[in-house]
Amino acid sequence: MNESQTEPLLQVDNLRVSMATQQGIISPVRDVSFSINAHETLGIIGESGCGKSVTVQAIMGLLSPRITRVEGDIALKGRALHTLNPRQLRQYCGRDMAMIFQDPLSSLNPVFTLGQQIAESLRLHTPLSGALRRQRVVTLLEEVGIYDPVRTARMYPHEISGGMRQRVMIAMAMACEPALLIADEPTTALDVTIQTQILALLDSVKARTGMGIVIITHDLTVIAQMCQRVLVMYLGQVVEEADIITLFNKPRHPYTQALLASRPSFSHARKSRLTEIAGSVPSLSTPFSGCSFADRCPYVQARCQRHNPSLRDINEPGHRVRCWFAEQVGETP
Ligand SMILES: Nc1ncnc2c1ncn2[C@@H]1O[C@H](COP(=O)(O)OP(=O)(O)O)[C@@H](O)[C@H]1O
Ligand SMILES: [Mg+2]
Repeated sequence: MNESQTEPLLQVDNLRVSMATQQGIISPVRDVSFSINAHETLGIIGESGCGKSVTVQAIMGLLSPRITRVEGDIALKGRALHTLNPRQLRQYCGRDMAMIFQDPLSSLNPVFTLGQQIAESLRLHTPLSGALRRQRVVTLLEEVGIYDPVRTARMYPHEISGGMRQRVMIAMAMACEPALLIADEPTTALDVTIQTQILALLDSVKARTGMGIVIITHDLTVIAQMCQRVLVMYLGQVVEEADIITLFNKPRHPYTQALLASRPSFSHARKSRLTEIAGSVPSLSTPFSGCSFADRCPYVQARCQRHNPSLRDINEPGHRVRCWFAEQVGETP
């Protein structure tokens, strides 16, 4: 029996991340649970500081154990990641899961050429011989829109522009065609043509290999084009989860409604981006027992100030909402 049919590719249960900061201990990710299947693209949206990056960094094992504590269960293809030692985890990273970061410099090594770095990943995780590896490096660079791949392969990270570095990092992440790709604002620094090309590349690899993709982006056009399902995060928690059609047509959390309403209309902007919504995200270091969106919510009631609702299934398949009044809120235009 095919394993991928019986269990999700990635399963995250009750993930909680706590960090020691100058303001004391904060928990930027609280009680986050979700899963993703092969052949699926899951989007994560939410304003800056809502814990999207910390969530995926925890999954990849990238948070320093010195200042962070990660609780909960993370399983990739049924295998618990937190039980692996750092060497085993490195094996996984690259072959079974890879990540594209917001900041490309953090994943490129300044002392090796770009070609060497992509080739090293291929050496570790694929059976390709030296000559085939060199060929594959050139193909990968071409696929991410680099015009002179042979010359670029011989260059060092500091010799190329930020946008080029971003593309090289994407080539590196795609080198071994990982089962799970996590992309944290992958195309923010790129112009529209290159962005389109990269997203098409991700989709074609997904169609060919069944790769699962988790994508964090502020760009709702990208979400609409790429994703089958979306998680909405607010102050470290998932406040809504829905399939893409339901999310855009019937959002039931007031925060999701505000996020979608704040996007400029298509006629005014080429890209529809999430913009500011009224009020600001409360501080993580101020303890509060009510709903974390209460202060900004147009529908707030006394109950919301006192008790934080749990994320619950509502009467629509696969639709979860963290709001006491989701059913009523959903009916308002
Ligand atoms: N290394 C760190 N030290 C202290 N605070 C951090 C650190 N990394 C993240 N945070 C805090 O955790 C919260 C979530 O951050 P992040 O996951 O990066 O948000 P985003 O949703 O924008 O990706 C923010 O309030 C951020 O300031
Ligand atoms: Mg982030």
